[in-house]
Amino acid sequence: MIDMTSKAREVRDLGYCVLEAVYDEDECQEIRILIDRLCAQRGGPSADAPRLVFHPLLRLCPEMGPFFGKAEVIEALAAVLQDDVRLAHSGGAVSNEQTKPYISGWHHHYHWEVPPGGLNRENPERVLGNVYTDGLSPEIGPLIVLPRGLNDSTNPRLDDRGTDWPGQVAVSAPPGSVVIFDTALWHSAKRGTRPGLRHLWGGHYQGWHNPKPHPEDNESDSPGLADYKRDLPALRRLIDGP
Ligand SMILES: [Fe+2]
Repeated sequence: MIDMTSKAREVRDLGYCVLEAVYDEDECQEIRILIDRLCAQRGGPSADAPRLVFHPLLRLCPEMGPFFGKAEVIEALAAVLQDDVRLAHSGGAVSNEQTKPYISGWHHHYHWEVPPGGLNRENPERVLGNVYTDGLSPEIGPLIVLPRGLNDSTNPRLDDRGTDWPGQVAVSAPPGSVVIFDTALWHSAKRGTRPGLRHLWGGHYQGWHNPKPHPEDNESDSPGLADYKRDLPALRRLIDGP
């Protein structure tokens, strides 16, 4: 049983939290099959294209609906956002061991103007919920974060986006874990040492009472999602509202 209050506090105090192994191995295997099917349609990942991204993932693959509709993940997101949860963006990224050493350099997803006096928030307005189907480890390729308090500066720690930053933390987690993080959290990702695919997928989430547009918003709804929404109220509320 996940302590949602303490997870929400971790996001406020550190910028992120980990929900360990909320997808079991059978679910992870189903997810890999779905994402690998998308990869096969694009003919990769390969030596020429070691990283493929899929946006909006849920529109491209409505069969992912039940995994986006996972109740305990949505409950944690609601505790963090202090609101009913809206899926504002869905995406996936698959890479192999031939990708560049930094799968992605240091960046954040805040993309909104910071007031002259600095951030003054009670909760994050928008978070990512990234699912690491294969886990996070040096072998799979870690997520690296720069822990932050809720209203800390969004300025970069260093100008170089492709190097280690002082204070960084390599997040480790078992397969099927979700990392929920503030869009203001600086993060990067390194490739793993083990041959094979690293399956990352997930969404950006905002509260339904916060309609503020964001440059990474995308549309996940599609006719193919109708049956899943009908059968899964938690998924329907993510897409259509409470
Ligand atoms: Fe990112």
